Amino acid sequence: MRELKILIILIFFTGLTYYGIEPYAHHVMHPAVAEPDYAFSDLENFDAKGDAANGKKSFAANCQGCHSLSSDSILPPMSHAELVSAYGVYPPDLSTAGDLYDPKFLANFIKNPANASFESTYKMHKQEQVAKAKASASAEEQEALQKSFEKEVAAFEAKNKISMPSFSYLPDQEIADIIAYLQEVKKETTPKEAAVQACGRCHSVKYAGIVENSSRDQLITYLGSFPPDLSQMIKSKGEDYLHKFINDPQKTLPGTGMQRVGLTKDAQDKVVKYLENVGDSKKSEREELGAYVIGFFVILTFFAYLFKVNAFKEVH
Ligand code: HEC
Ligand code: HEC
Repeated sequence: MRELKILIILIFFTGLTYYGIEPYAHHVMHPAVAEPDYAFSDLENFDAKGDAANGKKSFAANCQGCHSLSSDSILPPMSHAELVSAYGVYPPDLSTAGDLYDPKFLANFIKNPANASFESTYKMHKQEQVAKAKASASAEEQEALQKSFEKEVAAFEAKNKISMPSFSYLPDQEIADIIAYLQEVKKETTPKEAAVQACGRCHSVKYAGIVENSSRDQLITYLGSFPPDLSQMIKSKGEDYLHKFINDPQKTLPGTGMQRVGLTKDAQDKVVKYLENVGDSKKSEREELGAYVIGFFVILTFFAYLFKVNAFKEVH
């Protein structure tokens, strides 16, 4: 009977720690962040249907001055070093753009890169915060909140620049044509290629031999900080954090210099899976081992029980 009581007390306190205190502490230290939004709902909808043949011409006129497209034999316009020093970051080859990037995001990005990459989401999340604070504030405080909001947005926009020019003067039809063309010539990506294409112009993944595709000093000048190596991110940040952060960095880390890159759900799954394979290659082995360890303890408990019964026989 006594053992049973001890067991019940043990189960109660373990359960309290596991289901009560731990999740509560986690919730306080890491406030909940909304799930990834693969519909990019803060951006404008875009319905125009594109024509790939027209898109090829428009690509030559507007994009080829900076971007190569190796899947259609379009070479870089200058040497690697010249491109990096002209733009601060390497303008990526676009052979995989039709595969990696969401078409709605792409359309918004071509029209106004700074807006799609950070401004729109930064403003949206700040606005939500300000609206919450305003709800319980006096008229005077509301005005002050609005002023400081405008100041913060202006400072953010001045700090975070992107060297891809805006094509807001192109008609929607022409933008749709370019996207249709990128989708027609697209190359399917392996998980590694997805990570290199989407992240490699800024980040290295040293454990996998991937070096950032731009120069360190120029990246610091361009981005304001050096993008960290991604080899161990899966361990230090975890899968859930990575999914939310990549989908919308401003939501997770307001004001960060990392831009939203606009990956589709499939592409993002590939990138995160790849980072998991690089940073935590033993994960499946570890999970398998867990079952053996539990099995071992079950058997051990059984023998410990037999031993106890035997040892106490003489006492009773
Ligand atoms: C003057 C040079 C220049 C021109 C012209 C240009 N780009 Fe870019 N583009 C860049 C640079 C630089 C980057 C990388 C910016 C960064 O990561 O901060 C980029 C990035 C991109 C990306 C990656 C977006 C992402 O979410 O990661 C796409 C897609 C793209 N450009 C498409 C185009 C298309 C389509 C055109 C033609 C309509 C075009 N670009 C014209 C310089 C240019
Ligand atoms: C245009 C450059 C650029 C691209 C492209 C880019 N990043 Fe970043 N990234 C940054 C910068 C700059 C930081 C540092 C941000 C800071 O310190 O606020 C960063 C930070 C990060 C972090 C650390 C977040 C944290 O909480 O500290 C992760 C994880 C990350 N990036 C993942 C990715 C992945 C995955 C991709 C590709 C899908 C990617 N990044 C593409 C520039 C970039």
